[in-house]
Amino acid sequence: MSLYERSHAVAAFLQEKTKIKPQVAIILGSGLGGLIDTVKIDAEIPYTDIPDFPKSTVEGHEGKMVFGTLAGKQVVMMAGRFHYYEGYSMGQITFPIRVFQALGTDTLILSNACGGMNAKYKIGDLMAIADHINLFPEHPLRGANDDRLGIRFPDMSEPYDKKLIQMALNIAKEQGLLLHTGVYAGLTGPTFETPAEYVWLARMGADVVGMSTVPETIVARHAQMRVFATSVITDLGGIDGHVEPITHEEVLEAANAAAPKLAALVTALVERM
Ligand code: HPA
Repeated sequence: MSLYERSHAVAAFLQEKTKIKPQVAIILGSGLGGLIDTVKIDAEIPYTDIPDFPKSTVEGHEGKMVFGTLAGKQVVMMAGRFHYYEGYSMGQITFPIRVFQALGTDTLILSNACGGMNAKYKIGDLMAIADHINLFPEHPLRGANDDRLGIRFPDMSEPYDKKLIQMALNIAKEQGLLLHTGVYAGLTGPTFETPAEYVWLARMGADVVGMSTVPETIVARHAQMRVFATSVITDLGGIDGHVEPITHEEVLEAANAAAPKLAALVTALVERM
């Protein structure tokens, strides 16, 4: 079966379980699953029940798809995403985006935990991603192109929707919330960066670095969805080459602490869409 057929088959399977027709899809990153609590849930489907879906293997990633309403809008949320470092192929990592496309979703919201290189950033701050640098070793659109899914050479002049970023900045101002905008460098992990790598990433123009988001954004743009993504800065990699040791537990803790801010921002954004 082609990717087109597989994604439509999964969409049909999911639509048997819910009456929600999601306009917006939201993927929640490490420690950021709390947004689920603000959704009026219609159906919850564990990844293990979804045909063709990989299982998520990381602690802090629950692994279920939730359909419901958020701020009056019909949404689908993924608690737990798939990462390249887990061993999944680019096709597996981005398959959920194709399912959203098949469901007719036009907007994708992503969240993630990241390391901050920008000297103005502090642990717990939020950053709307304005642009990214793709450092993954494999491109998610590599291979024969299916014109039913998107064009061969997608434009990337505006990967993250400028109107949505401006709306988020307005909301942040109203909520008295600090929201940076900056560049996200996406690479595989699972190691955090060495001091020299943080310096290198900062010099190439990245404000933060993380292990996700870029493949999903690329496929969503191929699918002509609008994308909005926010990062929670969970640790700092200094441009002066100073890096404190860091653990996954600390990343989760910092992400959990910032989760309510992120939930308020995303809820208000969905409300105004
Ligand atoms: N680097 C890469 N990924 C991350 C980091 C980091 O410092 N923090 C959270 N995810």
